[in-house]
Amino acid sequence: MTDAQPILARALRREELSKADITSLLCMQEPAPLFAAADRVRREFVGDEVYLRALIEFSNYCKNDCLYCGIRRSNPKADRYRLTPEKIIETARNAAGLGYKTVVLQSGEDLWFDTDKLCRIIREIKKLNVAVTLSIGEKTREEYAVYRRAGADRYLLRIETTDKALYEKLDPGMSWDNRARCLYDLKELGYEVGSGSLVGLPGQTLESLADDLLFFKNLPVDMAGIGPFIPHPQTPLAAETAQGHFELSLKMMAVMRLLLPDINIPATTAMETLHPQGRLLALKCGANVVMPNATQGDARVKYELYPGKICTGDAPEQCRGCIQRKIESIGRTVCGSYGFHGDYLKEKQN
Ligand code: SAM
Ligand code: FES
Repeated sequence: MTDAQPILARALRREELSKADITSLLCMQEPAPLFAAADRVRREFVGDEVYLRALIEFSNYCKNDCLYCGIRRSNPKADRYRLTPEKIIETARNAAGLGYKTVVLQSGEDLWFDTDKLCRIIREIKKLNVAVTLSIGEKTREEYAVYRRAGADRYLLRIETTDKALYEKLDPGMSWDNRARCLYDLKELGYEVGSGSLVGLPGQTLESLADDLLFFKNLPVDMAGIGPFIPHPQTPLAAETAQGHFELSLKMMAVMRLLLPDINIPATTAMETLHPQGRLLALKCGANVVMPNATQGDARVKYELYPGKICTGDAPEQCRGCIQRKIESIGRTVCGSYGFHGDYLKEKQN
């Protein structure tokens, strides 16, 4: 195996890393030096403050059938719900009252929410003086433009994997090129763009994960959400394992931090399903964002992408308090600003 130390030294000198270099970092047997390097770069480029984003899971209806996803349309056991526009706005108001400066609206691809409904929701939420992030899947360029004009600031759309054949096998009926097209359109329309990967998909290789990281670097993304794949019992991938996905996701986040030092990297919620300190460990390996669940009531349980989702019985208030205590327990602080990409460096220069 290649010695990873010289690669890390080059990364810290801000030299380009090749696909082979990245793959070597991802296969490190003793990744502590990689994590330490990512933590150092994180502190230098985005500081010790953690940005919080309030996640509102507003519908689990989906027209798609991704083989890994618990709310895929072919799961008859998914208990379907959709919040009314009024309830979504009220939930956002509650989140703003808890001090969140960003609201993330996430759902399956639910066509009940047409452009008019979505724009009304966005406009109302923008009156709360928060940034609005959408995570509602693949749309036309024109739809993205309309949401942007209504006030949406950011968009999250994971590419899931850059292995096109694997993507199209796991996401039947969908086109990888269209997903990539969405990301380029969003970028051109002036959104802050978040993408990301599912780590540990059956058939995924370390080389293809290295390609994912280079894809994010080339776009370039403003945020990269790296999440472990956790098999859901009511999906065709039920028999797969989540073994090894936690550590590999930490490595992905760490290398991402080295490649794009000033972007936002969330400590993804699924990490805490696999490890009780999952989000804190991610924050120590390059991450600087947390997206606590701000959804109210039983929708929290019903939005079940994977089993073992955390905090399903808690109220948004509890999650807000809990995450603040956790963040402070590792000597970090919660940031009170909007947390756009590059804010920390801009403030440091002033
Ligand atoms: N429909 C939107 C979209 O496609 O971007 C947003 C909702 S989708 C459920 C959000 C993310 O959940 C996906 O991008 C995927 O990476 C993640 N996800 C789905 N199934 C998962 C699983 N079994 N384990 C971990 N993450 C999963
Ligand atoms: Fe649509 Fe998962 S299959 S959100």
